[in-house]
Amino acid sequence: NPIFVCMLISDRYWIGTPLLINGWVRSVRTQKAHIFLHVNDGSSLQSLQVVAGAELNDQLLTFGSAVEVTGILKKSPHQKQAVELEAQRIHVIGECDPVDFPFKIKERHNLEYLRQFPHLRCRTNAFSSLLRIRSEATAAFHSFFKDNGFVQIHTPVITSNDCEGAGELFQVEPSSVGDAHREFFFSVPAFLTVSGQLHLEVMSGAFSRVYTFGPTFRAENSQSRRHLAEFYMVEAELGFLRSLNDLTKVMEDMFKSTTEQVLARCVEDVDLFHSKEVFFKALNVILSTFRMSYSEAVEILGRSTENFTFPWGCDLKTEHEKHLVKHCGNVPVFVTDYPYRLKPFYARANQDPPQNTAAAVDLLVPGVGELCGGSLREERLDVLTAHLEDAGLEDTYDWYLDLRRFGSVPHGGFGLGFERFLQCVLGVDNIKDVIPFPRYSHSCLL
Ligand code: 4AD
Ligand code: MG
Repeated sequence: NPIFVCMLISDRYWIGTPLLINGWVRSVRTQKAHIFLHVNDGSSLQSLQVVAGAELNDQLLTFGSAVEVTGILKKSPHQKQAVELEAQRIHVIGECDPVDFPFKIKERHNLEYLRQFPHLRCRTNAFSSLLRIRSEATAAFHSFFKDNGFVQIHTPVITSNDCEGAGELFQVEPSSVGDAHREFFFSVPAFLTVSGQLHLEVMSGAFSRVYTFGPTFRAENSQSRRHLAEFYMVEAELGFLRSLNDLTKVMEDMFKSTTEQVLARCVEDVDLFHSKEVFFKALNVILSTFRMSYSEAVEILGRSTENFTFPWGCDLKTEHEKHLVKHCGNVPVFVTDYPYRLKPFYARANQDPPQNTAAAVDLLVPGVGELCGGSLREERLDVLTAHLEDAGLEDTYDWYLDLRRFGSVPHGGFGLGFERFLQCVLGVDNIKDVIPFPRYSHSCLL
């Protein structure tokens, strides 16, 4: 049976052990009597060094080709040496023409170049490290929720509601046209989800802590470095939750524990991304946070030397978010109590005229800006009914009002953009470089 390179590195095998390794050739060096190969199987950033007699050389043994190597372990971490295999047989399973292959040996291709090859970029060090980290980070979120008593809910991908009310919806219909009197497939307009929140709120009528972690879709006509049309969102909803303070505590605990876990479990892969500066940014994330109200944020922006014109009541833009994070010393910043009219129908009114704010919170982080959005939800039937009536949505959301009619409890929750989390922790500038197959306006490769 084949052994994975990561198993060899983690020290489980003794010198002299016969082994079978599968992988792709990352480098070939030929000397008079020997050839030296580096073979990578994706299990770790490190490749396995293979030494073979010159008689095993084969002209098909090129950068990028797939090989099966049988041999015996010659050097191992037991001897504080890089693992090395002495090959007895090298079989080229899949050839790779080095002229046509878009990646060249020993060349450092930049991330933008790699993006043109979504079907091949997983074979590079940078992107395979990213994907291993992404996998660990996924596990870190699941384990945070498991350790803290949350029940995972598979919220639907297809839905008939627009949770955020922002109209950034993709509609879902069968592709076949033909029938002139076409009805909606689901009898009602149906869309790809923009958030699982409302379905989680349903569940928080029966469980006190629930979460979901899945693909989320927004028809945002943007090619910015922090927006995708398909991204992953981590969302949690907590019942019997009475204050924004309690909510930000959970957000902070989650953010810190997952960041810590990623940094601790993926030391080598993370190292590939981290300059010193990025490392300290990540450390700041773990060590400290700041909290201010929206009104305080407006004051800070007003006092700044950057001459923002930012009247109370406007929504924060990226440049404002960046300024606030910098102002607080490059640590994560919670901004709370936004103007009520900026937030969707579900946000809980603070009922604090003349300002009229909502118990909503955003988490802004270094390098990215908005990472999470959350709020307490309006659990009071009369307030919610009046608000939905104003918006003409009382019929659409009659089922949502039911949640307030039958055993309503104060509750709240938040959503975190998983790709933005990876950008923040790794210091990756463009969101397209932290997801295996990025989808955004005018681009859906593969
Ligand atoms: O702030 P948002 O819109 O909040 C909600 O959807 C709430 N219903 C969540 C909840 O309370 N359960 O989105 C949450 C986060 C944002 O802060 C951002 O990090 C990320 O999702 N996000 C995107 N990430 C990538 N591309 C996009 N187009 C994104 N839109 C939002
Ligand atoms: Mg938001």
